Amino acid sequence: MASLNLAEGLTEAGLSFTRLPHPAPTPVAARDAILAAPGFGTAFSDHMVCIEYSEAEGWHGATLGARGPIALDPAAAVLHYAQEIFEGMKAYTHPDGSIALFRPEANAARFNASARRLAMPEMPETLFVEAVKQLVTADRDWLPPVEGGSLYLRPFMIATEAFLGVRPAKAYKFLVIASPAGNYFKSGAPAVSIWVSAYSRAAPGGTGAAKCGGNYAASLMPQAEAIARGHDQVVFLDAAEHRWIEELGGMNLYFVFADGTLTTPPLSGTILPGITRDSLLTLAREEGLTVREERYAIDQWQADAASGKLVETFACGTAAVVTAVGRVCGTGPGASDEFTIGSGGPGQITTRLKARLVAIQRGQAADTHGWVTRVT
Ligand code: PLP
Ligand code: COI
Repeated sequence: MASLNLAEGLTEAGLSFTRLPHPAPTPVAARDAILAAPGFGTAFSDHMVCIEYSEAEGWHGATLGARGPIALDPAAAVLHYAQEIFEGMKAYTHPDGSIALFRPEANAARFNASARRLAMPEMPETLFVEAVKQLVTADRDWLPPVEGGSLYLRPFMIATEAFLGVRPAKAYKFLVIASPAGNYFKSGAPAVSIWVSAYSRAAPGGTGAAKCGGNYAASLMPQAEAIARGHDQVVFLDAAEHRWIEELGGMNLYFVFADGTLTTPPLSGTILPGITRDSLLTLAREEGLTVREERYAIDQWQADAASGKLVETFACGTAAVVTAVGRVCGTGPGASDEFTIGSGGPGQITTRLKARLVAIQRGQAADTHGWVTRVT
């Protein structure tokens, strides 16, 4: 570990960052063109953070430098046994021009929970947050000035040890990259359509609650099937009974009933504990709504939508924020039954909760929960 003092750049986490600014950053005109219509995940900022880990040295060699390819030995464990975890978070511009993160310590805690499940080293939460802040500060000009725009941050860790035996690696690399983001769904439609997959995402005892690349690899074929059938996202049911609704490929779900109550699937170990999901639990209760964390069956969802007992459904996550689900298709294995939820567009409670959450994230409403962390 570095032994610099704070004046020389030592972070709270006890590690100093070497800063190597990009020698030839993206020209302003090209950057502005990207920021005018950022989409999701296709363009990247100029810098990245890289921190190494070895058994002997622990976390070391923290660098903020130019974004670029990384060299990996072809035997690196991540390439063979998928020892990889990641996070997804956003930086927002506030009305006073400052830039802030939303609950970054929750991402740091979930990152460490994922690390434990994948037998990877944990990282001090302060170091995780500092790494993200370093990148946001360097690339502060990459926040899109468009409605709903943000800088999406992707911290991740890979096993770099060159070794083909099947055991946890002894060397890792942690990186943070950033991508200007607008709407996650290409269509930009007010509500999305989802396909009920006959495949499973996660089983009890598996890695469903960890944010590891392998979960997403397994969801790509079901997601591609959803797209091929004309839907935006896939919804997974539980692996044991194929009846209980779990989550979408990259979002949690909430169900809203005509009596003003809400339900969201419980953290059973097979779904990702979403930070947006958790924030909305608090905000909905503050709005005087009753929210249950309870199993909800696919056949009940269809029956309740038909009877009018269920009036809204929305997906939530960092990338998708809060997005109404308008249409559901494929309610049995390989089936193509279809039902519409409410009017097929965003309902009142979906709209209200989204507005509350977004106002806090963007500094337009008081941060009464200490969720907002200023960066610059
Ligand atoms: N579920 C899955 C599978 C996800 O990939 C995500 C996105 O990160 C979420 C849920 C929502 O989590 P969060 O609200 O922390 O972004
Ligand atoms: C996120 O919302 O941050 C996600 O990770 C979802 C998806 C882009 C993988």
